[in-house]
Amino acid sequence: MPDIAYVNGRFGPLADAVVNIEDRGFQFGDGVYEVIRTYHGQPFSVGPHLARLERSAEALQLSTGHTGDQWTSLIHEGLRLSRFPETKIYLQITRGQAPRDHPFPIDLTPTTVLTFREFHPLEASVRNVGVQAVTIDDIRWGRCDIKSVNLLANVMARQRAKEAGAFEAILIREALVTEGSVSNVVVVRNGAIQTAPEGHRILSGVTRAIVLELAKKEGIPVSETFVTRQELLAASEVFLTGTTVEVLPVVRIDGHVIGTGSPGALSQLLARRWDALIG
Ligand code: PDD
Repeated sequence: MPDIAYVNGRFGPLADAVVNIEDRGFQFGDGVYEVIRTYHGQPFSVGPHLARLERSAEALQLSTGHTGDQWTSLIHEGLRLSRFPETKIYLQITRGQAPRDHPFPIDLTPTTVLTFREFHPLEASVRNVGVQAVTIDDIRWGRCDIKSVNLLANVMARQRAKEAGAFEAILIREALVTEGSVSNVVVVRNGAIQTAPEGHRILSGVTRAIVLELAKKEGIPVSETFVTRQELLAASEVFLTGTTVEVLPVVRIDGHVIGTGSPGALSQLLARRWDALIG
């Protein structure tokens, strides 16, 4: 089977999947989403992803219309149909279809979309060498904790990174590092790990939470406080966390070499612990 999509109750080939142009997801970006990946064919950390989907939806007065069990069985049904070695599962709920008007009718039926595509993990050589990043002004709205499909600022930031030959855009708001355009950013300073606190300025990453627990188990001090751009550039190590990047060392930012210019000891240790966790 090729890529699969589920739209409002029906599975089929992704190429044939359509939604109405009056869908508020299309008109306003009025919707929320999650990205889940499989390891060894099994969806990873489904519970935390679904909990975040519910939190995002609730913050927008949007009902997902599905229980955790219903989502889980849709995910398993899609995996059964798609049969890729590893799959990237995308879940999206929009407010539904209505004539274009900013205020929304409260009785709309949400649009439910899931897609199942083959997931290609980053090459081991990329992880071993580390990636480059650029810093960019964080011009996103004030609720970055909501995983909304409104991603224009992230899109433009990642495009700028790509044009600069970098992997990720690290976002800076009022001189402080918030997160990446598609990942959370973790810094190693003085043997401790530091990353932006949960709150409205970042997406509370599922991978971030697991990696911070792994670090604590190793006895590494963890501080959930902001670092400045200057502190970022002077850090001994920097790495990204996220569903698609896992634990990914950053070795150069805005042309400045981070640490020795190679993935540092703590980044490598946590990447190994991550690999052990996912088996
Ligand atoms: N992005 N911050 C942002 C802005 C993100 O978009 C993501 C994930 C993360 C990491 O979250 P998690 O560890 O839960 O994947 C942090 C997904 C993968 C995406 O939009 O494609």
